[in-house]
Amino acid sequence: MSRLCVNIDHVATIRQARRTFEPDPVYAAVICDLAGARGITAHLREDRRHIQDRDIEVLRQVVKSKLNLEMAATDEMIKIARRIKPEQVTLVPEKREELTTEGGLNVLEKKDLMATVVKMLSESGICVSLFIDPDEAQIKAAAKTGAQYIEIHTGLFANAAEGKARDRELERIRLSVEYAKSLSLGVNAGHGLNYYNVGPLAAIDEIEEFNIGHSIVAKAVLVGLDEAVREMMSLTDLG
Ligand code: PXP
Repeated sequence: MSRLCVNIDHVATIRQARRTFEPDPVYAAVICDLAGARGITAHLREDRRHIQDRDIEVLRQVVKSKLNLEMAATDEMIKIARRIKPEQVTLVPEKREELTTEGGLNVLEKKDLMATVVKMLSESGICVSLFIDPDEAQIKAAAKTGAQYIEIHTGLFANAAEGKARDRELERIRLSVEYAKSLSLGVNAGHGLNYYNVGPLAAIDEIEEFNIGHSIVAKAVLVGLDEAVREMMSLTDLG
């Protein structure tokens, strides 16, 4: 069975909207862990727009499933990862102006840099995964870096209209998974997955791990709202 890792970045996004203490992504991680998630994913961005350095420090102490640190391949992040030692680092491209990670790494163009970073992280006992598009040339380049895993970017699949366009993206992912396995890479997947579109990908047994964030946090806000309103009313005697 494939594993679900929950990306908690957007719990921190809500906190950072007020720069306050709540909701604490560490509390969220504990709840996800207790609910049976197989891992917690958090992206420490260069601009610290959601997850903060303190979050990563505390997550390292409390997450008992698996901590997957998403990060750009920069000196600053490598230093943090080697000190914190998450079980896994997923290297992602990062642009300051983007709303979210917009595409996979161009490993082909940055082969040497990627190989160096993979080596540095692996030497610290960290499993390294490269976030790439479902593209044969990128997968081949990823295998050459020495990374143990790739994470297939599922954004195009997620955004494709249901029907032929989505089927085409699904087939592209299926072929990519097969190709990656033939090169002895482990395969994870994520980005843009939600309660409506994850089914056909979850049916691909060779995908070991799914990283899902926004949709789960969005659902949590809604399914938790009823109880939150009732609690405020009972606490304050407001009707
Ligand atoms: N995987 C990677 C590499 C990501 O950058 C993200 C977004 O932070 C996700 C998975 C999760 O995407 P979403 O929030 O759309 O579920």
